[in-house]
Amino acid sequence: KMDAFIGGLINQMTLKEKVGQLDLQSGFRNVTGPFINESYEQQIKDGQVGAIFNAYGADFGRELQKIAVEETRLGIPLIVGHDIIHGHKTIFPQSIGEAATWDLDAVKLSARVAAKEASADGIMWTFAPMADLVRDPRWGRVSEAAGEDPFLSTAMAVARVEGFQGDDLSQEDTIMATAKHFVGYGLSQAGRDYHTTDVSEHELWTTQMPPFKAMVDAGVATFMTSFNDLNGIPATGSKRLLTDILRDQWGFEGFVVTDYTAINELVPHGYARDDKHAAEIAFNAGADMDMVGQLYINYLEELVAEGKVSEEKIDTAVRQILEMKWRLGLFEDPYRYNDESRAEREILSVENQNAARDVARKSFVLLKNDNQTLPLKDDEIKSITLIGPLADSKFDMIGNWAAAGDRKSHPVTVLEGFKHRFGKNVKINYAKGASYEYIISQEEIDALQGIGVPRITADDSSLEKEMKRAIAASKKSDVIVMVMGEEQRMSGEASSRTELTLPGNQQQVMEELKKLGKPMVLVVMSGRPNDLRWADENVDAILHAWYPGTMGGIALADVLSGDYTPSGKLPMTFPRSVGQVPIYYNEKNTGRPYFANNPNQRQEHYKSRYDDSPNTPLYAFGHGLSYAQFDYGDIRLSSEALTVDGELTVSVDITNSGNYAGEEVVQLYTRQHVGSITRPVKELKGFQKVHFDKGESKTISFTLTPADLAFYRADMSWGVEAGSFDVFVGTASDDVKKASFELVEK
Ligand code: IFM
Repeated sequence: KMDAFIGGLINQMTLKEKVGQLDLQSGFRNVTGPFINESYEQQIKDGQVGAIFNAYGADFGRELQKIAVEETRLGIPLIVGHDIIHGHKTIFPQSIGEAATWDLDAVKLSARVAAKEASADGIMWTFAPMADLVRDPRWGRVSEAAGEDPFLSTAMAVARVEGFQGDDLSQEDTIMATAKHFVGYGLSQAGRDYHTTDVSEHELWTTQMPPFKAMVDAGVATFMTSFNDLNGIPATGSKRLLTDILRDQWGFEGFVVTDYTAINELVPHGYARDDKHAAEIAFNAGADMDMVGQLYINYLEELVAEGKVSEEKIDTAVRQILEMKWRLGLFEDPYRYNDESRAEREILSVENQNAARDVARKSFVLLKNDNQTLPLKDDEIKSITLIGPLADSKFDMIGNWAAAGDRKSHPVTVLEGFKHRFGKNVKINYAKGASYEYIISQEEIDALQGIGVPRITADDSSLEKEMKRAIAASKKSDVIVMVMGEEQRMSGEASSRTELTLPGNQQQVMEELKKLGKPMVLVVMSGRPNDLRWADENVDAILHAWYPGTMGGIALADVLSGDYTPSGKLPMTFPRSVGQVPIYYNEKNTGRPYFANNPNQRQEHYKSRYDDSPNTPLYAFGHGLSYAQFDYGDIRLSSEALTVDGELTVSVDITNSGNYAGEEVVQLYTRQHVGSITRPVKELKGFQKVHFDKGESKTISFTLTPADLAFYRADMSWGVEAGSFDVFVGTASDDVKKASFELVEK
């Protein structure tokens, strides 16, 4: 039925109308590049828009849809998209925080709630999940990713696709997902956004491709090209990526949208002579829909007339887009996503806010907790000083890319959460105390005027005054809780940094407070791993809270008070300093691995190491403490040999010997000692998030099959190689038990 309907429609379409379907226009909200066309309404009337984004609201969407349906010759409805990254109006934790839950049900739930809210508010397409694998915290977009590991990133990407799309796109509360950015964007050189990427074929397929392939298998509706030049070919103009791999090799059947003006950018990349040439390259490469750039509507008809683009290929692209419109149910009822009463019921419902609270508390990572400083027990503590630029900031709470999120009234701040939770019994002394603004010279401020985040000079008199208020407030309290980190705009798109230290005078304020000799707790809000060396040495407890979303303040009060035991684990390594970047747990061993524990350190001189820093990170991938205490027994293997058609059970007994119930993320890693291509020192192959009551013991088992041990071999074929392996089970990538086995032919 669908084929006949769409075939019939395409037969009636003029070339101009067909090209119109390949055009994605931007409304006025959340614009992240040049604003090329301000008269998109007229353009919709002219049948020159297939989809629109940066526009939402059930009523607004209805108005636009009405133009497309009632005022164009064929009445083809529009697709309306938006960046629904970690919630629509009820905002969940920033994506990297969601990844820190290591809880696929929680991440799926977040996407499900986002889809329910967005689909009632005029939106049927999100530009998520972002599945770029990231290893460089200078890059601002690490906050939108799921971290450094292909296994974890793949699991997160699939959970998100399932959450957004559900089982059936034609249901009114599901929306199309977008696998982005295809591909390699996460490797932007020097962490500078939009920069070049250069990566070996083996590394590309091992680290960057897996989440994208898995999203195709999970039925993701659309793909977005990435901005970057990948090994000399900009991804948006790469036929190899968009057609040979995505369509021919992986069998993707949805449509491909470019990133924002990415076709136009083929010109400054030095890959196209001019805009027309750029349109020819991108379209022939396999980019079906042009985001904002207007190049398809400007040039495709001409290119067909000149024989440089075939009308048949245009028909294929149009068919792919119309099929999605059909699957979304838009031909049946173009207004099905514009239901004010559903929006009223669904948006920011109590149920959605509770879900956001739960996912937020699961996302917090307890990095350090000396002397059981946390939780803060309200029967022991009489007063808490709460300070920091993020302690009472609604603006920052929901992080970046919370495109439709409200930053003024809905988010619950930490101060509000504390008053609510502790207010009756414990006095809260609040002072902002410190600034997270970049402190730079007046000349630099003038030079950078108007771009990005706030900046101040060191002699700004407010700094001194605020610091004094923080000291005075702290003198009155039993414990100091500091909510410090980065302003939310310091991460996200176009927000790269050269330093990872906490910006502004935050560390200076912490240093002053340290002199008071009181217990100090640092809650970090940030979209990236920061350099927390000073805090690690000087502060009693550190909890990483990313940007926790609408219910963040309540969720933080839950965890800091001990009502909820933290269970998050780092999805990305925290370096000691920016100089260690890129640093990741699944590195290669090198020919000269360094052993810090060798008693004869002279032997270690000509080894792969730094003179001024340990090699090890400050906090390893997978690290995250709990108020509970999980004791791991030794690993038991069902056999010492795994045959190529067999399976191996890896078991470990774990006991919660602490005073709190809690959840533990049990992590399984392997290492193959020798391969036709060198193998990483550890690779995540499985994880389970398990609840333990106080005093409870459980046996946790994983089943390993040869498929789990397959890799791209030296000739780029996918498969296993027999040989010896280590298997590790533990609480973090650097805190594991170890056993060994052989993978044998038979
Ligand atoms: O979806 C985003 C993309 O991730 C970066 N550029 C803009 C797009 C649309 O807002």
